[in-house]
Amino acid sequence: MNLTRRKFLQSLSIGFVLATKKGWANKLPAKAIERRDLFPQGVASGDPTADTVILWTRRPPVNGNSASKLIVEVSTSPEFKKVLAGGTAHISADSDWTSRFLATDLKPNREYWYRFIDDHGFASRVGRTMTAPGKDSDTPVRFTFVCCQCPNEAAMNAYRKMIFEDEARPKDQQLNFVMHLGDFIYEVTWYAEDNPNGNRGRRIRNLYKFPQGRKVSNFHLPVSLEDYRTLYRAYLQDPDLQDARARWPFVCIWDNHEFAWAGYQSQYVAGGGYSAPAQNQKVSANQAWWEFMPAMVQQPGNPKLEHFDAPAVVDTPMEKFNEDGLSEEPNNLKAINSLKIQRVLRWGKNVDILLTDNWSFRSPDMSTDDFNVPEYPRVDAQIPFEIMNYGRHYNGGKPPETIRFNGKDIPNPTKNVHAQTYLGAPQRDWFLEQLEASTARWKIWGHGFGTMEVRSDYQNLPGELGAKWPKDVGYAVIDNRFLRDKDIIFDFIKDHKITGFCVVGGDRHAFHAGLASKALPPKKYEPLGVEFITGSISQQTLFEVLEVTMAKNHPKRVLHLIDQADGTVIPSMNVTALHGVLSTLKLKETGDMKQARAVRNHDVAPHLSLIDYGGHGYVMMTATAEQLSAEFVCIPRPLERSDRPDGGPLTYRVVHRTNLWKAGDTPKLEQEILEGNPQYCI
Ligand SMILES: [Fe+2]
Repeated sequence: MNLTRRKFLQSLSIGFVLATKKGWANKLPAKAIERRDLFPQGVASGDPTADTVILWTRRPPVNGNSASKLIVEVSTSPEFKKVLAGGTAHISADSDWTSRFLATDLKPNREYWYRFIDDHGFASRVGRTMTAPGKDSDTPVRFTFVCCQCPNEAAMNAYRKMIFEDEARPKDQQLNFVMHLGDFIYEVTWYAEDNPNGNRGRRIRNLYKFPQGRKVSNFHLPVSLEDYRTLYRAYLQDPDLQDARARWPFVCIWDNHEFAWAGYQSQYVAGGGYSAPAQNQKVSANQAWWEFMPAMVQQPGNPKLEHFDAPAVVDTPMEKFNEDGLSEEPNNLKAINSLKIQRVLRWGKNVDILLTDNWSFRSPDMSTDDFNVPEYPRVDAQIPFEIMNYGRHYNGGKPPETIRFNGKDIPNPTKNVHAQTYLGAPQRDWFLEQLEASTARWKIWGHGFGTMEVRSDYQNLPGELGAKWPKDVGYAVIDNRFLRDKDIIFDFIKDHKITGFCVVGGDRHAFHAGLASKALPPKKYEPLGVEFITGSISQQTLFEVLEVTMAKNHPKRVLHLIDQADGTVIPSMNVTALHGVLSTLKLKETGDMKQARAVRNHDVAPHLSLIDYGGHGYVMMTATAEQLSAEFVCIPRPLERSDRPDGGPLTYRVVHRTNLWKAGDTPKLEQEILEGNPQYCI
């Protein structure tokens, strides 16, 4: 072991198992023997700064072979000819044998290798990581962002492609990091024995069973800390995911499924009508995330921790919500504040990454089913939707007593309740402060699901097709969320003349590219940023779900799917959202996108450049001093693992670019198709 420079690692003021200055080097084993079986979840790194990065592994007892501590080595070469730094990391059952180690005193914008060696001389696989550029650096920043992966029902071919392509790039163009926007795990689990035909056409692998778990309908939900840990352990044995974590630092936030399928604060809500107060489960979900994600996050009040300090809570119904939609029930407050993941990370002068927690502080949905339009699946009627979303803040604080719907005046159920929020008021204030303080050229908001409104003009449906769309309700809302949060944030951006604002999102299982605006016509359409949403790594898209579940003779099928003579299906749902219903009907009639686009309604989606409800893959961002680009890498449905070294075929590659705009100017996006033919997505 050639320890040419003993640069030891120190702690920051955050909870990691630390090196001590003395002692560890003498205990280094003479020779390290790689034993991946003893480190079954591999290695990972995360949240790099210009001189630090968190290193992670898990070393459980395996067949009676246990370890009591780990040596960490950091080197500038994968062969570890020269060990730059090292330290000791403790492991124990308390954190499920996971270990976090903060490597410090590193050089900016550098590639490093690291490994963990146990007290028997058995080593983990070698991990690679990258520090961020220094704070005054102009160097371009490259990263991908991803979401929504489920190895229990699909393959992670997207990561294989990402690795293959990155290895082929010149060193100075390789990715700095991967941002994971959540649904890293899917806590809701279908077991093969309950679902002999798979889950909506997907083959179930039965990678794990919950030690405790709860069966609801034909699926199972986690209940305990061990149940949540079981998910992470199983997922991280996927070779493609594990290789990705060993190649790049990850920057992670959670979406919904790290805790609950649906829900808010500490309330667990799932399909099958299941809903229950779940303060204990929220704490367990937070703890398991903390244990398995290499993230620079902390438990409020506990700056130095080797283990997650789970607060004692009692599952208690939340009965009252304050004017911001927060339940002040004490167990709820303890549970949702047991881990704080909102944070800001910087990559030189070009990029600040702002990360928010979009689930722990969200308000309960107080809307009712009175305004549903069941004849038109998967959309909401715009005006009732907006009135209920804004609650008592609608119309400048003067919500109507009743809402006109299908010729009747129905009492407004949300006249006196909070607006729906996902950030909660304190986090929203924090976010705005961070945004104002950011001096990076590109202020990139890592967002669970993005802010973009998607809709269609069902009010223009002709004849029988449109006969049941209610009068005077406006557009059909396909996706729009948390309008008051959006208003406050976009007004702030405008008032403070913030430029270089970019939202990157996941969760929707669909690619979106476009301009970010608080509202669309006939309201004031005023783009103040750019927004990109990635398709899922592997989880089912809406197009796939509808292909499997929507009746062939459903009268509104054309708005979503167009069947072709050869048995294939066009995802007309993209066209409906991008160009409006007349374009979709023209496409059905002619089979020709050119003719379909010629009759588009320009008001439906002036902000959208691309939408793909059927694509999987990832987005690669490149930020330079002048330009931000987003390359959409779309792959076919990853039903089975590709045996190709490049992860399998590509569907299309489309890049969107924007030049840095000046305050008061409108951002513009230019689109270039690099490979493939995404004709039904643009
Ligand atoms: Fe998801």
